[in-house]
Formats: sequence, structure tokens, C-alpha cells
Amino acid sequence: MRYRLLGRTNVRVSAVGLGTWAMGGGFPWGPQDKEDAIAALKAAFEEGITLFDTAPMYGEGVAEQWVGEALSDVRDKIIIATKVSPDQLAPKALKTSCEQSLERLRTEYIDLLQIHWPNPKIPIEGTLQALADLQASHKIRAFGVSNFGKSDLTPCLTKREFAPASNQVAYNLLFRAIEYEIKPFCVRNNISIICYSPLLHGLLTGKFANADEVPPERARTRHFSSSRPHTRHGEAGAEAETFAAIDEIRNIARDLGEPMANVALAWLIAQEGVASVLVGARNASQARRNARAGNLALPPAYAQRLTKATEALKKKLGPNPDLWENPPRIH
Ligand SMILES: NC(=O)c1ccc[n+]([C@@H]2O[C@H](COP(=O)([O-])OP(=O)(O)OC[C@H]3O[C@@H](n4cnc5c(N)ncnc54)[C@H](OP(=O)(O)O)[C@@H]3O)[C@@H](O)[C@H]2O)c1
Repeated sequence: MRYRLLGRTNVRVSAVGLGTWAMGGGFPWGPQDKEDAIAALKAAFEEGITLFDTAPMYGEGVAEQWVGEALSDVRDKIIIATKVSPDQLAPKALKTSCEQSLERLRTEYIDLLQIHWPNPKIPIEGTLQALADLQASHKIRAFGVSNFGKSDLTPCLTKREFAPASNQVAYNLLFRAIEYEIKPFCVRNNISIICYSPLLHGLLTGKFANADEVPPERARTRHFSSSRPHTRHGEAGAEAETFAAIDEIRNIARDLGEPMANVALAWLIAQEGVASVLVGARNASQARRNARAGNLALPPAYAQRLTKATEALKKKLGPNPDLWENPPRIH
């Protein structure tokens, strides 16, 4: 496993992190077995994963509770990243949300507290000051943002103590929108990129042969036609380009003799500005297999083939960095 520092902080994270959204169960993932989730968390740690990403929104606190339950005995060896929901960004609400997360996570400090989504209705300066206060009182070691575009990030750079360590965004081989503007901006300003949905909800494992095999509740990103029942974007989608790219990635992985998921994760880990990729896992076997991407370095010619294979899809989906909506909620 490789490890990297976040932004200007001394918070060191594994290049593969474990995401816990699906562990919370409910829409769009369906039921999650608790034993499997606890086993996945423990297996991930055994494989060298130290970054665990969760949120109060995941299963309304259940995912945070399970992280606390599974990993409290190795607390000083892991990095807990959690979030504050967009409706809790007023200073008092944010501090209450942090206290509740600390309790569910069974810990006295959070390594990285992230603003889950921007909320234009709540002045960001107050939110940033509340985060800086939590840092000064050692409740959190660092703070970051998530789903922030260039305009969302700009006010965070007005004071040194407001600068986020990281920006957690949707980024994977099939969704490269942040390459247009957000990634270069983060690189210039030393804000580490943490990638979410690095397998595009499992599509990059190769488990679905075509768009119709994807369960309807998962087929709701801008890749899928707005005729799919759970979409919210009103766009035509890019189903042909998505599955043409998946076929080509599958061929490249076969040539390399590596699992497709690991090839996709290794490509992402190697991108400029990326500190970590947060991969979801529903059981120990998935967690162990995905963790191995942390040791996989792609030969440059293969990395270039992967980039080329997804260029047409990147152009079709364009610079909107919102995976689900148009107009975007990210600015
Ligand atoms: N900040 C945000 O707004 C935001 C948004 C989304 C996600 N996130 C974070 O990013 C994390 C990961 O994103 P994600 O959960 O959306 O998607 P993902 O990592 O792209 O896909 C994860 C899903 O793919 C399947 N999978 C994983 N490894 C597999 C393997 N080796 N073989 C076969 N199937 C495999 C599993 O579901 P099945 O077994 O059910 O197929 C798993 O739940 C989340 O858990 C969360 O922490 C953050």
C-alpha cells in the first residue's frame, strides 16, 4: 500500500481508502448485512487501508457506528474521515453534528471532517470558522470539502486557516469531468483530491455486460438515459460510449493479467493531485481484492491506453462535475 499526505497537513492516508456509503444500506444499495460490513472494515485494515470514509447520512448514522464498532481497537492507526451534511453547516449545527459523529464513531477526535455538499443558503465563512474552531480545540485534526467546484472553493482560500486539506469528488475512468477545471485548481492550491465512486458503483468491475443489466436504482448517473426511472438529469445519457469504454478497459485489463477493478483504481491513484480513492466494499472479499490496487503500478503505455479508451466518453459527458444532476449543484 502507498500512503500520501493530505494538502498541507500531517494527515497521512492510504492510496486506497474504504468508503462506507453502501454499508448504510437503503436506497440505492439495498440491505447490507452487518457481519459482512464489520468483516469488510477489519479486512481492509489488515490489507493496509488506513483511510475510512463515512458520513452521518450513510444509513442515518449506522455506517459511522459500524466504523466505530469495527475499528475502535486500532483507533490510533487509522484515519477517520466523516462529513457534515449540507443542512447542518450553520456553526452551532455543525458543532452538534461533529459531537454526534464523535459519539457514534467511539472516538475523541476526527482526522478529517468534510463539508458533504456546498449549501449556498448558509454563509461559508461561518462554516469555515466553525471548522477552524473545532481544529483549534483538537476535536478534528483537519477539515476538507466535498463536491466543491472552483467557485465554491474560492472563498475557502481567503484566509490560510480556512484552506481545506482535500476536496472529495466523483472521479473515475468513466467520469473525468473534474479534469476540465476542478483538478487543475486543486493541484495549484495544494488541495488533495479524494475520489469517490472510483468504480462508478461497481460498473468498473466489469460485472454488468451492458446498460440493461445495471439495476435501475444504480442506473441514475448522467451516463444513463433520462428514460431510466431514478435519473434526475433530463439528459440523453451516454450508454453506448460508457459500455464501449468498459469493453476496452476489460481488454486492457486482460492484456495486463490484472482484475479490471484494480486496473481502474490504479489508473486513478496515479492521476496528478489524487491522494486517495475511496472504494466501496460490501464484504471482506471485495475489500481485500480492492486493497491490492494500492500495490499496482500500471506501465505507462497501459495507463495511456486507458486514458485514450475513455476520451470519447469524457467529451460526451462534458465538464459538469455533478454525477447525477443538470444543472449541477457544484460550481
Ligand atoms: N462525498 C460524496 O458525495 C460521496 C458520494 C458517493 C460516494 N462517496 C464515498 O465514496 C465511496 C465509494 O463510492 P461508491 O460506494 O459510490 O461506489 P464504488 O466504490 O464505485 O462502488 C462500490 C460498489 O461496487 C461493488 N464492488 C466493489 N468492489 C467490488 C469488487 N471487487 N467486485 C465486485 N463488485 C465490487 C460493491 O457493490 P455490490 O457488491 O452491491 O455490487 C460496492 O458497494 C462511498 O462508500 C463513500 O464513502 C462519497
